[in-house]
Amino acid sequence: MSDTHQTSLPAGMPTIRVMPMPSDANIHGDVFGGWIMAQVDIAGAVPAARRANGRVATIAVNSFLFKQPVFVGDLLSFYAEVVKVGNTSVTVSVEVYAERNRLQADTVKVTEATLTYVATDEHRKPRQIPKLEAL
Ligand SMILES: CC(C)(COP(=O)(O)OP(=O)(O)OC[C@H]1O[C@@H](n2cnc3c(N)ncnc32)[C@H](O)[C@@H]1OP(=O)(O)O)[C@@H](O)C(=O)NCCC(=O)NCCS
Repeated sequence: MSDTHQTSLPAGMPTIRVMPMPSDANIHGDVFGGWIMAQVDIAGAVPAARRANGRVATIAVNSFLFKQPVFVGDLLSFYAEVVKVGNTSVTVSVEVYAERNRLQADTVKVTEATLTYVATDEHRKPRQIPKLEAL
């Protein structure tokens, strides 16, 4: 993973963008880690469900690093990509960048995480990940 500080967002479209509100922060204005984890889970599930061609469930949070604080009013961009495909599971890396006070010139990588999702069937049981050529 690259440096936490950089002056611009990575190339390509973020998976999701969202701005934390005062209700997402503690009394000092720092955003709760749990709120960020929920957004990371949502972002990570997007490429996982695409690759699985259907519903997925989060089975594991393999790693999570809150490298820099997140503040109310930061514009957050979540970049999620599949890094591993197993029999029934898809592992996704998620990187989060904050534009402080919505200023593109003040962009910081705040969080990085890796999560594993399992493709599930209508009975919530694991199912095979389809071959890429079948998608
Ligand atoms: C997802 C679920 C259906 C999987 O069923 P399971 O019987 O536990 O799954 P399995 O042991 O067969 O493992 C399924 C896959 O997960 C992987 N896996 C299991 N434990 C893992 C772990 N600790 N870390 C990473 N991957 C893991 C396995 O390697 C397997 O992947 P593969 O088929 O690609 O090799 C079940 O665990 C479940 O319902 N969990 C709750 C999910 C949920 O509600 N999440 C939201 C938060 S509560």
